[in-house]
This record gives sequence, structure tokens and C-alpha cells, in this order.
Amino acid sequence: MRSFNGRDILSLKDFERMEFFRVFEVCEELAPIAKNRSNTDMCSDKTLLTAFYQPSTRTRMATEAAMHRLGGHVLGFSDAKMTRAGDFYQESIKDTVHMLEYYGDVIAMRHFQQGAPAEAAKWSSVPIINCGDGWGEHPTQVLTDLYTIWNELGTLDGIHVLCIGDMRMRTMHSIGYAASQFDMDLTLVYPDNMSPTDEFRAELNERNVSFREAEDVRDVIQDADVIYMEPVVQPDYTKPRDEATEDKGVTPPQYQVTAKLMREKAQQSAIVLHSLPRMDELTVDVDGTRHNRYWIEAFNGVVMRMALLALVLGKVE
Ligand code: CP
Repeated sequence: MRSFNGRDILSLKDFERMEFFRVFEVCEELAPIAKNRSNTDMCSDKTLLTAFYQPSTRTRMATEAAMHRLGGHVLGFSDAKMTRAGDFYQESIKDTVHMLEYYGDVIAMRHFQQGAPAEAAKWSSVPIINCGDGWGEHPTQVLTDLYTIWNELGTLDGIHVLCIGDMRMRTMHSIGYAASQFDMDLTLVYPDNMSPTDEFRAELNERNVSFREAEDVRDVIQDADVIYMEPVVQPDYTKPRDEATEDKGVTPPQYQVTAKLMREKAQQSAIVLHSLPRMDELTVDVDGTRHNRYWIEAFNGVVMRMALLALVLGKVE
């Protein structure tokens, strides 16, 4: 297996099966630190730089919290408007990264342009972690999702994952690529204007991913071991920021999961994951059911970023 030391985490296309399990092993080793709400000194000689060109609650703060748990240092920006990349100068990724690489030992980047973290990695001598790029990918989120499934079900093989929502979404791309490494069947349910691109469908086929498409969650939910959700009331992920309008819309029932639907149609053991934030596609009454695993992900998201930071900084092999 390739070493993670110094490696960029850009796409789950780059991950081989055993590498997923190695990351999960490191999560298990480091989880007690977070569980005990303690910090270690594993990364006390290292600095994380967070470069967020798009809003985030979970990804940025989970990554920063992870570095604090590892005893490292953290700096960065969460509003690129206050940097030269976001003002009059519109400073390029190349020029920005030529600066940032001297300010930290690993850079966690979120950007509204698909491919921006990969562009940064071309110019950076320190690892780049893609924290979501436009519609592109969201590897750290989906690694957290997969770790949660593995923890909860004990396996990533022989499972049926029902993906509901916007198939242009970066999480859906990352989960599709990851599925190529496991015995996983995917069912995709989405509105017409949020269908998988032809390119994404072709990539899934080239990678022998087993997937089918359906029109209504109510017709297929009974097959699912895992229900994986994204909103269909969505901002434009190619913009640095998208303000809500009053008529932003509501989610039709064919893309919605409710406690009633889970009670009447889902398997007793089915689990629900959502990368969050949610709109009305996942009703709050699911929170109080045994199916909810999306809050556990808040903890797992910190542990996953601890593992990735420790691996790419060479603190564990
Ligand atoms: N899941 C996720 O990416 O959330 P944030 O946008 O809050 O980081």
C-alpha cells in the first residue's frame, strides 16, 4: 500500500480498497483522544492552514478541531473576500498557494471552482486536502460517511446504498467513486434537473460500479441498508456564496425521508446519513428514530480529519 505521508487528499478516485481500511484503522487508534475530549502532542510541531473560499460549518471546524486534538497549530481564512483572492486583485490559486505553503505544513482548501484544490496541489510543496470543490468532490465528508457505515454495520460489502438528492453534488461523486472499491449497490433518486452528468455515469460504468436509477424514494427505500441524503433545494455550488431567496422552494415527497416513511417502508436496521446542512428533505422527526446516524457523524468527522492529518503529516505510517 502507498504511504499517505506527504500525499494530497484530492479525490476518492485515488483511493484503493486497502487504503480506506488503513484510514479507518487510524481513526480507531485516534478516536479515544476525541472521545475523552483531550488533546495530544502528536502534531505539536505542525501547522494546519485552512483556506476556505466558500461557506462551511462542519468541514472547516471539524478539520481545525482535529488539528487542535492532535496538538497542532491552526491558521487560515474562512472568507476569501478578506484576502487578495477575493478582492480587486482576484489573486490566482498559483500565486496564493506559493504564499500559503510557507505558512503551514498542510493546507485544507474549500473552493467554489471544481479542480481548485488539484490546481493548488500542482504548486504546493505541502499536502492539500480537498474540503469540497464546486460540484467536484468532497473526499473528507465521504470518508466520514464510509467510516460511519463501517462502524455501524461492520462492513462496506454486500450493502445497498440509496442516494437521494442532487446528483451533481460533490458528495454524490465521491461516494460513487468510492463504491468502485466495495461490493456496494447504489440506487440514485433525483429530480430531472439534478441528474447525474453523462460523464459521471460513464465514470461509474468504467469503474464497474453497480448502480440503478429510480424516480421515487417511496418505491425503493425498502431495499436500502443505508439511506444517503442531500438537499434538492440547493444553492449554486459554483458560486463563492449564494443567498437564499424567499421562494427557494420545497422538496417534493419523492425525494423526502420522514419518520412515517421509515416506519412504513424502510428496513428496521436501515441507517440514515446526511452530509448536512439539511432543508426539508429530511424531516426533523427522523432525528428521534433509531435510523438517525447523521449526528454521530459530527464526532466521526473530527476523528476522520485527525486520521487524515496524522497520515499526510507522516505522524503515523
Ligand atoms: N457537510 C459539509 O460539507 O458541511 P459544511 O458545508 O458545513 O462544511
